[in-house]
Amino acid sequence: MFSRRSGFPAEKNRLSLLLEKKKAAGEVILDLTETNPTRIGLSYPVEEILKPLSHPRALTYQPCPFGLPETRQAIARYYRERAPFGVTPSLHADQIFVTSSTSESYSLLFKLLADPGQSILTPRPSYPLLDYLAAAEAIELRHYQLEYDGTWHLDFGSLRSAVSADTRAVVVVNPNNPTGSYVKEQEWENLEGFCREHRLALICDEVFFDFPLETAVPVPDPLHRKTEVLRFFLGGLSKLLLLPQLKIGWGVLQGPDSLCAPARQRLEILLDTYLSASYPVQQAVPELLQLRMRLQGPLKERLARNLSTLCSALDRSSATILPPEGGWYAVVQVPGTRSEEDWAIQLLAECAVLVHPGYFYEFQREVFLVLSLLPGEAIFREAVGRMRSLL
Ligand SMILES: Cc1ncc(COP(=O)(O)O)c(C=O)c1O
Repeated sequence: MFSRRSGFPAEKNRLSLLLEKKKAAGEVILDLTETNPTRIGLSYPVEEILKPLSHPRALTYQPCPFGLPETRQAIARYYRERAPFGVTPSLHADQIFVTSSTSESYSLLFKLLADPGQSILTPRPSYPLLDYLAAAEAIELRHYQLEYDGTWHLDFGSLRSAVSADTRAVVVVNPNNPTGSYVKEQEWENLEGFCREHRLALICDEVFFDFPLETAVPVPDPLHRKTEVLRFFLGGLSKLLLLPQLKIGWGVLQGPDSLCAPARQRLEILLDTYLSASYPVQQAVPELLQLRMRLQGPLKERLARNLSTLCSALDRSSATILPPEGGWYAVVQVPGTRSEEDWAIQLLAECAVLVHPGYFYEFQREVFLVLSLLPGEAIFREAVGRMRSLL
């Protein structure tokens, strides 16, 4: 009756069963897995956000497969504004397509690039939803490793082992979720050569790009380097403006004309088939993007303060923080005296603190815990204090 691709495993793990039990008993949980920016007590400029969404122009519909021209121009402006000092960006609005989310952009690109059964290379550890997005498109994911030796780096040996004749693309998440590592200058260079050699497209997920935590290290902006590879840069309002409910994402298409022209032609039909990005929200994007700094500012301060609280709390403990360079998460290595799941369960059972065990993100080794840096500072401080008492 049903397709194999929709047969996702349904069983619950021990951690989620315990969480359900505690919630049912009315216990207050300090949730360090919270990733929804609208639920963490930040104040939004309500009037400024709602005004462009209620404009009468929202009552006319003008279907545009790639998205409204003014929306794409505003997105192109964002990329020009974020270009590093001294770089002259050549990005044009015609290179941009608008979707309803970054997740949808991934699905679209998987359809564009790979037939069922063909493969795409993704990093490990990384964002768990990639497995579901690939399964839904009947695409096989093969993995390359990110390794930590004081900083995270891309293990090119594992990338070379993962590629095969039916591989169509490499995904990089920049900075990665949950390791918080940006792709380094030399890695871009190597990725360009690798993709050229194997005729692969490069999909670069940049949803956390605007959230560097390690400000001393300049982040290379790959968008402005010359390329012979078909590349897609993905972004969206859910992280950029902390507004996931607006459901707007996008992709930037870049590369030699011989690849971009057929890619655009095919994308146009795929996009026209769904026309899924909301038009009233697309019309509001130019004004909403002007709020970028105001919306990001308070969260950036919170991320920095929570990270500093975590460092102080775990100082001279048996745990080590793997310092994130950017993004919304921190990875903590804890002693191998018990498994990741047992650590997470003990934290929940004894301290009422919820964290994610590393295996949710497919860390190759134990024992890592992943903490969201989003929660309110008082909650975060209390939670990491309780965590410290277990270490
Ligand atoms: C790395 C990464 N990419 C993409 C997404 C999904 O973004 P969107 O809300 O635009 O679908 C997430 C969501 O957490 C993410 O962590």
